[in-house]
Amino acid sequence: MSFQIAIDGPAGAGKSTIAKEIAKRLGWIYADTGAMYRAMALYCIRNGISAENESDIESALKNIDISIAYNDDGQQVILNGENVNAFIRTGQVSAMTSSISAYPAVREKLLGLQRQLAREHNVVMDGRDIGTCVLPDATLKVYLTASAFERARRRYEEYRQKGTDSDISLIEKEIIERDEKDMNRKIAPLKRAEDAEFIDSSDMSIEEVVETVIGLFRDKTRSAR
Ligand code: DC
Repeated sequence: MSFQIAIDGPAGAGKSTIAKEIAKRLGWIYADTGAMYRAMALYCIRNGISAENESDIESALKNIDISIAYNDDGQQVILNGENVNAFIRTGQVSAMTSSISAYPAVREKLLGLQRQLAREHNVVMDGRDIGTCVLPDATLKVYLTASAFERARRRYEEYRQKGTDSDISLIEKEIIERDEKDMNRKIAPLKRAEDAEFIDSSDMSIEEVVETVIGLFRDKTRSAR
């Protein structure tokens, strides 16, 4: 039997930082489902497929093979044999991902891969619908959020450290727009599972959030024994 910690929440809440660190401490794998959707979006951009054209996207799916590999830098997304990790974090890919991830056929395509990972490994998986759809029986579910301003501030800081100039109010606006889309789509919208633990990380350090989640996991497994 494998253990699963599902972490859902809006863009920029710190899910991947937290999930990666928890996986490292527990010796598990980290599954970043957003990266899988991003690889699909990259395929569409590269092939000139428009986000609005659901039927073109559906017919392209048969030409898309997504798999996952792990190396010293963590999860790598492989799109038709190519490691695309270096290309999936642009603003253009983020916007395309948010649009295409609303299509049921796109979600269906990735569901099998995500569930297989969780069957075969102890996993910390993050995304939008992990607790509600992908792993409804996860050992622990967490809904991690932070205020839009704080999320924008963190992203701004990330860019600054990479030497990229950006506009914090524009980042905040994009974050709010993306939340809106992710929360209001018909299929697998971002929402807190009823049995998910709610954590607002606006005023918490990474260490505090990591400790809190690991503590919750230990409590769960202790009380299940
Ligand atoms: O976590 P992220 O920013 O890499 O996610 C990119 C987009 O993918 C986001 O707009 C919502 C979508 N997504 C999703 O619909 N379901 C998931 N499980 C993960 C991400």
